[in-house]
Amino acid sequence: MERTLVIIKPDGVRRHLIGEIIQRFEKKGLAIAEMKFGTMTKELAEEHYHHLAGRSFFDELIDYMTSGPVVYLVLTGEDVIDIIRKMVGATKAVDAVSGTIRGDYALPGTENIIHASDSRDSATIEIARFFPPFDTKK
Ligand code: PPS
Repeated sequence: MERTLVIIKPDGVRRHLIGEIIQRFEKKGLAIAEMKFGTMTKELAEEHYHHLAGRSFFDELIDYMTSGPVVYLVLTGEDVIDIIRKMVGATKAVDAVSGTIRGDYALPGTENIIHASDSRDSATIEIARFFPPFDTKK
């Protein structure tokens, strides 16, 4: 069964959208395999976004992602990666279609509420990064 990583970002937590976002996944019928809450360390944020190092917005992105607690989720299901990417919507608020999470809740700017893995390879790496083996009970 496919697995993917979702992060409800600090603005999603601050805006009390945790329940709304998780409810969308539950109503869709997706299964939650893992879930935890905490503030991302600078080291893990820089590792997670290492492919963006050097971009003009990199420091702002790291400050934002470490600015408060986030919710980490692992969801499972057939084609869950693509299904969740569609539910999340486009990165830029102006491109995010109404009915998607970003389309319904995000405005232009760094704060775009949610992250979801974009491929099977990314999902494998990201799940291992935020749910290291010693941290799981399986
Ligand atoms: S890019 O430019 O195509 O590499 O960007 P993209 O793959 O769409 O996005 C990668 C993550 O970087 C975040 N991002 C930004 N943050 C702050 N400012 C700006 N301008 C910006 N552009 C992209 C974007 O939200 C993506 O974060 P995740 O967590 O992967 O959704």
